[in-house]
Amino acid sequence: MIGHRMPECAELIGRIQPKLQQVFYTNRRVLIAASTGTGFMEASVRNTVNSKVLNCVNGAFSQRMREITEANGKANEVLEVAWGQPILPAQVAERLADGSFDAVTVAHNETSTGVTSPIREIVEAVRQLPNGDEIIVIVDAVSSMAGIKVEFDAWDIDVLLTSSQKAFALPPGLAFCAVSARAMNKAATVPNRGYYFDFLLLDKYLAKNQTPATTPISLLYALDLQLDDMLAEGLDNRFARHLAMRDRTHKWALAKGFKLFADPVTYASPTVTSIHNNLEIDIPALNAFLHERDMIISNGYGAKLKNVSFRIAHMGDLQMSDMEELFAAIDQYMAK
Ligand SMILES: Cc1ncc(COP(=O)(O)O)c(C=O)c1O
Repeated sequence: MIGHRMPECAELIGRIQPKLQQVFYTNRRVLIAASTGTGFMEASVRNTVNSKVLNCVNGAFSQRMREITEANGKANEVLEVAWGQPILPAQVAERLADGSFDAVTVAHNETSTGVTSPIREIVEAVRQLPNGDEIIVIVDAVSSMAGIKVEFDAWDIDVLLTSSQKAFALPPGLAFCAVSARAMNKAATVPNRGYYFDFLLLDKYLAKNQTPATTPISLLYALDLQLDDMLAEGLDNRFARHLAMRDRTHKWALAKGFKLFADPVTYASPTVTSIHNNLEIDIPALNAFLHERDMIISNGYGAKLKNVSFRIAHMGDLQMSDMEELFAAIDQYMAK
């Protein structure tokens, strides 16, 4: 193991940065923390909010963002739509129109329901408001970054956060976050940002290819290699592979007689499909069957969706052949 203050570590972070920037489509530094995405969810409201946040909720993870906002004592209002529905630009603009908010939170890809909200259009709608240039748009892209194209600079997002263990296909333990100049300037005006996740402190160290606290060096080595593999595949190819696996998953589910959870299907996630369990299969028993064959699917997330729905991930390094193997095994289980 190298030491985190050794030049070798700065070289490693320096090698990683431009590659992470390509994945985030940004020229800004991408903050790195020894954490999971939830850490940067908390950081995002602690660093950028002085008056009030609009939390857009359409599932369990966007609901978590609301809880985090409240747990940090930030004033908020909630825009909630039915779980399974996307958050739409006009809804956001309407709620922000009274000018009393300084930030808005949205989950790009609601992993609990398999719904992807149109972030680019949401940011466009926010920027058209009279105070749109002052509103910090916080995007949780935990289950979309590296699986769905999100262009941080071109779309004018302010805070874009993700974790290592989803579409990056790495072990958990690293979190990444791009922060706009607008959000950095705002952070400078916000008291009590905390220490571990202070955007200004993280950015100051990152300018020297360092982190304020000890960094998980072994995970950074894995990240360095994985970014090489991702860029060798080509990001557009990677996104297309996710879409093709999504479409195949829909085709399989509909052919079996299942219904899809995402409504309307135009917003169905490219990285995870949530399926109504309208055929009432025993999901724990199915998973036990799959587990014996080294595969696993996810039950519906949270009390609301458990057994009512189940989820099939098609992200990261999974290939179409993996999906075919999974569907053949589920078919075999259902034929029993
Ligand atoms: C959309 C979304 N947001 C946030 C989280 C929380 O991320 P983490 O477990 O990396 O803290 C998850 C985890 O599954 C997620 O899917």
